[in-house]
Amino acid sequence: MSKEEGAIHKQFHYFPGTRFMGSKSKIIDQIWKRLNKVEFNTVLDAFGGSNVIGYFLKCHGKKVITNDFLTFSYITSKAIIENSFENITEKDLSVILKSNSNNGFIENTFKDIFYSLEDIQFLDTARQNISELNNEYKKAIALAALVRACVKKRSRGIFTFSGERYNDGRIDMQKTIKEHFKESIKLFNKAVFDNGKKNKSYNKRTELLKVKADLVYLDPPYFTPNSDNDYTRRYHFIEGLVKNWEGLIIQEHTAVKKFESYKSPFSKKDTVYSAFDQLFEKYRNSIITISYSSNSLPSKGELKEMLGKYKSKVTVHEIDHSYSFGNQNHKIGNPNNRVKEYLFIGR
Ligand SMILES: C[S@@+](CC[C@H](N)C(=O)[O-])C[C@H]1O[C@@H](n2cnc3c(N)ncnc32)[C@H](O)[C@@H]1O
Repeated sequence: MSKEEGAIHKQFHYFPGTRFMGSKSKIIDQIWKRLNKVEFNTVLDAFGGSNVIGYFLKCHGKKVITNDFLTFSYITSKAIIENSFENITEKDLSVILKSNSNNGFIENTFKDIFYSLEDIQFLDTARQNISELNNEYKKAIALAALVRACVKKRSRGIFTFSGERYNDGRIDMQKTIKEHFKESIKLFNKAVFDNGKKNKSYNKRTELLKVKADLVYLDPPYFTPNSDNDYTRRYHFIEGLVKNWEGLIIQEHTAVKKFESYKSPFSKKDTVYSAFDQLFEKYRNSIITISYSSNSLPSKGELKEMLGKYKSKVTVHEIDHSYSFGNQNHKIGNPNNRVKEYLFIGR
């Protein structure tokens, strides 16, 4: 490994990851092996998710633009991709941890659903204090760290069921959210660095975004006819936490107090084809790369043909990959059913 590669590797090591459905963290080296052969300086990660791809490319010196319609994804990107200098100091931390007389919204709404009373009272306190930070990047770090703490303290990292089902007694489940939060702040502080570029994070529906980039990376939810790819349903609690539930209408009759999922054209068969086509047309002057899987629609052949309408050279790379959780759970262990991950590159 060269000295430069060593420095990149070291910085990437600071990425404060958690479980995220469809995260590319396990196959990032295989993706990079292909993208590294393509020339580009600016990149749009149009469906950022955990932001592992955007952060990786920031480490590689690219000007990175990220987008996701989930605000907690956006805030994480703002904290460590757009932000190059701000940190949470000890003084900031003491402001966030100080006691206050908050309205107890989280306690009143989510008592006995996901966390202990001690944990949710901490969330009410911290959430209010974070609102009062007056620097947008400090606020982003604090919120991203709070989200990470909540995910760490949640079995399987999702919010679709109440109680502690799947609690395997691992150490993360034994710590308080406050402990996770303090650890996460340290990790996020370390992840902040300057790559000399003006990186930018967006929080829009990708259909409505229009930015310029040499290379566009598309990793939308994979549409499979028999399972849902609804990110809001899985992550509603941390999304609500970041937005302070402002503008969200909680469905009071639901056991986990979720709100109505954000609509995505990538979640329905009758809209997924045109959604891809519109993105291809919009970014026809950029190199277009797509991650998609073999058990999803459009099929490999269909997607290749659709991309070929706008790009003269389309290559498809196969990456062997079993998901650890999410839509493909039932396929794990059956070698005949191994889901293949594809990387399409259209030039
Ligand atoms: C497969 S995940 C991306 C995973 C990401 N590449 C990673 O490695 O973590 C898909 C993401 O698309 C987002 N998403 C779905 N529909 C969207 C839309 N219409 N506009 C913007 N984001 C959308 C979801 O919130 C989710 O974070």
